[in-house]
Amino acid sequence: MNGNSPPDGETPAARLLAWYDQNRRVLPWRESPTPYHVWISEIMLQQTRVEAVRAYYARFLARFPDIPSLAVADEGEVLKCWEGLGYYSRGRNLHRAAQVLVEQYGGRMPAGREEIRRLPGIGAYTSAAIASIAFGERVPAVDGNLLRIFSRMSCCGEEIGNDRTKKLAEAYYLALMPEDRPGDFNQALMDLGSGICAARGVPDCGACPWQRDCLAKSAGRQLEFPVKAPKKARRAEKRTVLVIWRDGRILLRQRPGNGLLAGLWELPNLTGILSEAEVRKACFALGLELGRITPLGEAKHVFTHLEWQMAGYEAAAVSDSGIAPEGGGILVWAAPEEIRDKYPVPSAFDAFRERISRPVYLE
Ligand code: ADE
Repeated sequence: MNGNSPPDGETPAARLLAWYDQNRRVLPWRESPTPYHVWISEIMLQQTRVEAVRAYYARFLARFPDIPSLAVADEGEVLKCWEGLGYYSRGRNLHRAAQVLVEQYGGRMPAGREEIRRLPGIGAYTSAAIASIAFGERVPAVDGNLLRIFSRMSCCGEEIGNDRTKKLAEAYYLALMPEDRPGDFNQALMDLGSGICAARGVPDCGACPWQRDCLAKSAGRQLEFPVKAPKKARRAEKRTVLVIWRDGRILLRQRPGNGLLAGLWELPNLTGILSEAEVRKACFALGLELGRITPLGEAKHVFTHLEWQMAGYEAAAVSDSGIAPEGGGILVWAAPEEIRDKYPVPSAFDAFRERISRPVYLE
């Protein structure tokens, strides 16, 4: 130690790691942080809460225990395993990246951050998380937690969503990051951000290992940071969702290969909130004659920039003269167990999932 540096245990990094050693969350992907485990968990955690990820993570690893098993799977099977997690392009990219790893890297994740970052679906954050946690590379993994902590620690007046804020945060953490345990340093910050320096409510500064380093805390301005751009209003879209039965099977439609919920299977749905008579007429125009129609009630699903406001109806197809769906797309009559095991149906339709979980024979 030279004369200018604080004694061990007195650096912010040492204080953070000592806190982490006492308070770290016990999480399944931390038990054996192989590159594959870290990669899968980080992708799942990008838009999904830790508690929700646990079960998906266990199920995914049971089905695809390593990179080669993921690479040889059918895309449909991977998406089926992803069902409920949302943001399905994450699952698609995982699958593609596993194939690249088998074709170009002998089925192993390369060790360097920059090489990892070239894989499909892996950006600045995920590559840094894998490189630091699985390979011990000294690189900050700046996610929303780290941005918020940085913003409070330094009373950063820049908007949190700006590229410049991210660059400042990277430089800030790189200066603090120790030579050893860079992965733990990143994960300690994730835990700090999820528990103490939280996004919602008042931060629990009294429990924070960085309280004496934090400018916002010293100034009593914790709630002024991070600075956020005003939120754009979500667009609302009204849809009428149809559970249509024929011989104990349900009509499903595959969504187009690009855009929202690309390539997934959905309950056929029509634009607008329609009356029973309008549903009957619209289906007839598509070549589908319906028997009695029963309302299934209303439901809502919130996407990042969009909200679906849905009304559901259930009906039997009396005759089907070669249906031509609105806007094209493949149609299948799927049995409830095929919907369970084979066709990935997005969670936007969860309100109607009960209705399609066992066969119904409607007149
Ligand atoms: N969020 C994203 N990655 C995480 C990790 N490795 N541990 C805890 N929370 C996280």
